[in-house]
Formats: sequence, structure tokens, C-alpha cells
Amino acid sequence: MAGRLPRLADLGDVAGKRVLVRTDFNVPLDGDRITDDFRIRAALPTITWLTERGAHVVCASHLGRPEGKPDERYSMAPVRARLAELAPGVELLENLRFDPGEERNDPAFVARLIDGMDAYVDDAFGAAHRAHASIVGPPRTLPSAMGLLLEKEVDVLLGLREHPGRPFVAVLGGAKISDKLGVVEALLQTVDALVIGGAMCFTFLAAQGYPIGDSLWEPDQIDTCSRLLESGKTIHLPDDIVGLDAAGGFATFGKRLPAGAKGFDIGPGSAAAFSDVVMDARTVFWNGPMGMFEDDRFAAGTRTLAQAMADTKAFTVVGGGDSAAALAQFGLDDEVDHVSTGGGASLELLELGDLPGLEALRGATNA
Ligand code: 3PG
Repeated sequence: MAGRLPRLADLGDVAGKRVLVRTDFNVPLDGDRITDDFRIRAALPTITWLTERGAHVVCASHLGRPEGKPDERYSMAPVRARLAELAPGVELLENLRFDPGEERNDPAFVARLIDGMDAYVDDAFGAAHRAHASIVGPPRTLPSAMGLLLEKEVDVLLGLREHPGRPFVAVLGGAKISDKLGVVEALLQTVDALVIGGAMCFTFLAAQGYPIGDSLWEPDQIDTCSRLLESGKTIHLPDDIVGLDAAGGFATFGKRLPAGAKGFDIGPGSAAAFSDVVMDARTVFWNGPMGMFEDDRFAAGTRTLAQAMADTKAFTVVGGGDSAAALAQFGLDDEVDHVSTGGGASLELLELGDLPGLEALRGATNA
């Protein structure tokens, strides 16, 4: 990465200034109830830093994917109410994605957004992989800086890429290998071992010739999985699987699934083996659940892995999205070193070492 990422102190005296803060308040909602306010709380250090120095903070965020038009379901009202409790006096604009100019990176929308603002702070790590108006536009005109959350995310995740304590282990799960191929390839260059769980393990097991019953898999990724398995790197796959047999009954299988069976979680032997790998590591990155943890019958693999993340002495980093939700469900989110607020963004930063949001900040007038 060439260039320099401006920090809050680079904004100089902010007293009396209007500062536009791009946050990622894309929080999970049940109707108009916020089910997890982690992303709002994560922005508080930056907001406090600014307000304590006399700045007037105006936050702006997207929420959901309303496709460029106002949609009550994605109104910022519940977020505004929570923000008012956590940071009284801080303004919050309406959902940026109610305007088609946001996702199109329309200069006219940028101009409206920065009208009357004296400075810009990007603290929206979870959206830093989107080249949208509110992310890449303001630094072209306003003195700009990364917020404290963005700064921490970048330090931690680039630290994994550039100088991880070894052994460095990546644990990947989730449904599809095709979604994570880029990051798997990049991680294989850096890690000492890769641990694969979640439904994506079935495509790897199929590539090794094991029958996988009716489990979810991606036939068009077989060659890719074979190539990764032959890369000479240590790749741990499950030795046992939990799921449903052909009659729909709960069952534990070995590596071979009978016809009609479906795998939904790694088995207890694999969960123990994966935990040992995590316990022996010095750095662990985890992204993606080991099974369908939303269903109690298939939560044990993810729960055991989450507990190992909490117990190990290794430096532990959890990518956002489902794995962060799993940790929170098991009450272990305070037990790991860093839970990223970004799902896609954390994977893209690990893969490419840069993001559009960071590139924009390095090009800021004050950078
Ligand atoms: C996220 O939830 O990962 C971020 O807020 C980005 O949202 P998006 O995938 O809708 O751009």
C-alpha cells in the first residue's frame, strides 16, 4: 500500500466544525427492533473523540438494501433512537441508500452530502469495500480521516496478512467455497494451516472421492478444491459429520455419508480435533460457522469451535457476519481479541490488502 492513511489527529482543531462521519449502522432488525447494536456501539469511540473536542457530529449510514428509493422497512428511525441513548446530540441522516446516487457514486449526491460540512471521517469498516458515494466521494473535497474503528480493523487485519504470530491458522466455514475462493487462495499463501468446516467442506470431501449423500455442495468447484488440496499446505477437513439420515432422523456419520443423508454440522470428533489446532496456534482467524448453528441440533460444532477461540492463548480474530453472530449467541463475543464489524470487508481486506474506502482516504487533500 502506497500513501498514508490520515488519522483523526490529522484533522487539526475540530472545535465548532461540522464533521460528517460515515458509519456502518447496518444492524440486524426484527421489525423496528434492533436485535444487535454492536455496530452502533463500535462507532462510539470515534463519535466521543470528536464531540469531546467540540465538533458537531453528523452520522450517515446505509441500512439494508432498499435499492435507491425510500422504504419504511429500512428507515433509520430505530437506529436514530438507539444512537440518541448512546450519544445524545449526535445527528443521523436518513438511509443513504434511499437515494440512487449513493450506490452509483453520483457526484451530485456527494455534493449534497458534504454541503455545509467542514471535515469527513470514515468509520464504516463494514462498507469500506463498496465504492459508494459516501465512502469514496467526500475525501476528494473535505479534509478527511479514518475513525478509530476503521483504524483498529485495518491494523488488526493487515497485521494478520503481514506479520502473524506463528503458527497462524485460518478456520473457514459457511455454505459456499465459491464465495470465499479469493480469500482462501490468499490465506493459503500466509497461513500454516487451514481448517475447513461448514457446508463448504462437502465439496472438498467430494473432491477427495468421499460420498456426501445429499449434502449441499458445488460440483463446479471440484477441480478448484482438488487443486487447493494438492497445494502442499495443511488443510484440515472433518472426519465425522452430523446431520439427517435418509429417513430424516438425526444421525452421526463418519467421512462417508450414505445415499439420501444430509450433513449439517461437523461431528464431535472433528470439533475436538479442530479445537486442538486452535489451542496450539499463536494466531487464529475465524470466518463462517461450522454448521447450521441456528438449529440447536446442529450448533455443537460451531459452539465447540467458539469455545476454543475463547480458551486459546492465541491472538484471535473473528470475521463479521455469521461467525460474529454465533459468538454472540454463545455469549463468547467478549472472549476473543477482535470481532470485526465487517463480513465482506474483512475478507476482501485479507484477500487484497486494500479497500476502496482506504484508497479514497489516502487520496484525501490532507493525506
Ligand atoms: C455489511 O453488512 O456487510 C455491510 O454493511 C455492507 O452491506 P452491503 O453488503 O449491503 O453493501
